[in-house]
Amino acid sequence: MKIRDFLSLSYFGVKTILFKQKKPILGTIILTDYCNLSCKHCSVNNINKKMYAYVNIKKEMEAFYREGIRILFFCGGETLLWKDGERDIRDLVKEAKKIGFYIVNIVTNGTEDLHIPEADIIFLSLDGTKKTHDLIRGDTYDLIMKRLEDTEDCNICIYMAINKLNYREVEEVAALAKEHPKINSISFNFHTPYEGTEDLSLDREEKKEVVAKIKAMIKKQLPIFNLYSSLEAYLKNQWDRPCFQCIVSEDNKRYTCGRCVEIEGLCSECGYLFAVEFSLLFKGSIKIIYEMLKTYLRYV
Ligand SMILES: C[S@@+](CC[C@H](N)C(=O)[O-])C[C@H]1O[C@@H](n2cnc3c(N)ncnc32)[C@H](O)[C@@H]1O
Ligand code: SF4
Ligand code: SF4
Repeated sequence: MKIRDFLSLSYFGVKTILFKQKKPILGTIILTDYCNLSCKHCSVNNINKKMYAYVNIKKEMEAFYREGIRILFFCGGETLLWKDGERDIRDLVKEAKKIGFYIVNIVTNGTEDLHIPEADIIFLSLDGTKKTHDLIRGDTYDLIMKRLEDTEDCNICIYMAINKLNYREVEEVAALAKEHPKINSISFNFHTPYEGTEDLSLDREEKKEVVAKIKAMIKKQLPIFNLYSSLEAYLKNQWDRPCFQCIVSEDNKRYTCGRCVEIEGLCSECGYLFAVEFSLLFKGSIKIIYEMLKTYLRYV
């Protein structure tokens, strides 16, 4: 990240904390809800079966930028399936950079070409060792490993959603992230129990066990893209939500924090650690500010 962009984000942070502002800084645009997979824990795929138009996505990017958003995520459905005529994800990332976003990230299931050098971080979902990942996500582990081998870039962060089926494997997946030459880091989320997926939630003891393991890995300097102090807040379920600094846009509709904000009762069981981290950050937690600076400067 450029120093100028870093200072501008810091200025936003200070203003937000001092004046308790509720303006967003991180925006996500959903490009499509089409997906080639049907993961056990997911509830957002193939609902409307829509591929959103380039002109509308571009308009939304420009609106986000005008409103002060500087960190942009593209997500789905399967984000890399997005196409409009000749245009694909790389055109969107280039356009976002041209507009001026400081950080442009993508979340993907990793089954498509991962060579997107324009993106700052590609969050690649991997939900365990081969057997468990394939159980959750269908038979895709080997294809993902092949996609990783084929890409020339090193902008990949593993994204693991921890649930009842894979919680014993966080250390193995983190070890892969550390050793694999194309992977730069790993970021964990905990299962958020959308209707029909409640049995995948961890109980309190299981959460404690996993949080202890992730903390130990952070202490051992493994490339973990989560903040130490936010794990404690998650475990105690003590953080303010929804997070007003994050916004999601799909098909001309905006949601504060996540699309999940509209599902009654879900926020109280939220496992998305980015929401915990941003919420604590903009409340002015000194520990989180320090950890965020360290982590972002290391991996972005
Ligand atoms: C909805 S997917 C969209 C992008 C892409 N298809 C993928 O799988 O990465 C974004 C992320 O949300 C995670 N996710 C889906 N359902 C979840 C849930 N119930 N709780 C926590 N994370 C979840 C996925 O594992 C994935 O990492
Ligand atoms: S690949 Fe992503 S969008 Fe598709 S079902 Fe899995 S988690 Fe959901
Ligand atoms: S706090 Fe945010 S990310 Fe978590 S469930 Fe609510 S809207 Fe979704």
